[in-house]
Amino acid sequence: MPAPSFEEYDNPFIHFGAWMNASEKLDLKEPFAVTLSTVSSSGIPDARVVLMKTFSEMGFRFFTNKKSKKISDLNQNPNVHLLYYWDQLHRQVRINGTVAPLTDADSDIYWRNRSIKSQIASMLSQQSQPIQSSDALYQRVDEYIEENGLEPVKRPEFWGGYNIMPTRFEFWDGGEYRIHKRKVYEQEASGWRISYLAP
Ligand SMILES: Cc1cc2nc3c(=O)[nH]c(=O)nc-3n(C[C@H](O)[C@H](O)[C@H](O)COP(=O)(O)O)c2cc1C
Repeated sequence: MPAPSFEEYDNPFIHFGAWMNASEKLDLKEPFAVTLSTVSSSGIPDARVVLMKTFSEMGFRFFTNKKSKKISDLNQNPNVHLLYYWDQLHRQVRINGTVAPLTDADSDIYWRNRSIKSQIASMLSQQSQPIQSSDALYQRVDEYIEENGLEPVKRPEFWGGYNIMPTRFEFWDGGEYRIHKRKVYEQEASGWRISYLAP
């Protein structure tokens, strides 16, 4: 059966999944990378790339240091924005949503799947705090491994996952002569309301 056309999709998660599948065929270095935007308590926006390893109708999940700037923003304002752009496909997806922490059990599952060196580095890095140099962090990781061996470590309490529940998606499909397609899905009590925007 042929894939639905842009207009035929009626569920944003299925639409997103199809576009994500297409992007995974591009041999990207970081196929799960997405720009996550937050807003601080004083209304100042900020953005950074994170890895969104899983998504489903239950939400989009990322993992980070809970003492980082992004989580300080999220603790004050749970509204976030995710921005995907696939240059080779000439496609963009914008997602608004709200964020909530994952359970410790879910964070543990992901933590255990990370490489031991990543576990150690995440445990030793005070993300978003000033440091002398990244060499000093490499050195701390090497020293830690020398003293303790290359063994899995327990997930620190300051590291964990968050789930973003989308409330609005906008899919942008690049066309010729700037006649791009824009399709919006907005969450309503009865389901997803679909509309189209001029390019
Ligand atoms: C490709 C790529 C993937 C990244 N993935 C993550 C991630 O999954 N989690 C994370 O905390 N930071 C990730 N980072 C680092 C963030 O962009 C950022 O530097 C860090 O989280 C600190 O952000 P903050 O000070 O705004 O909290 C990634 C950066 C890049 C370029």
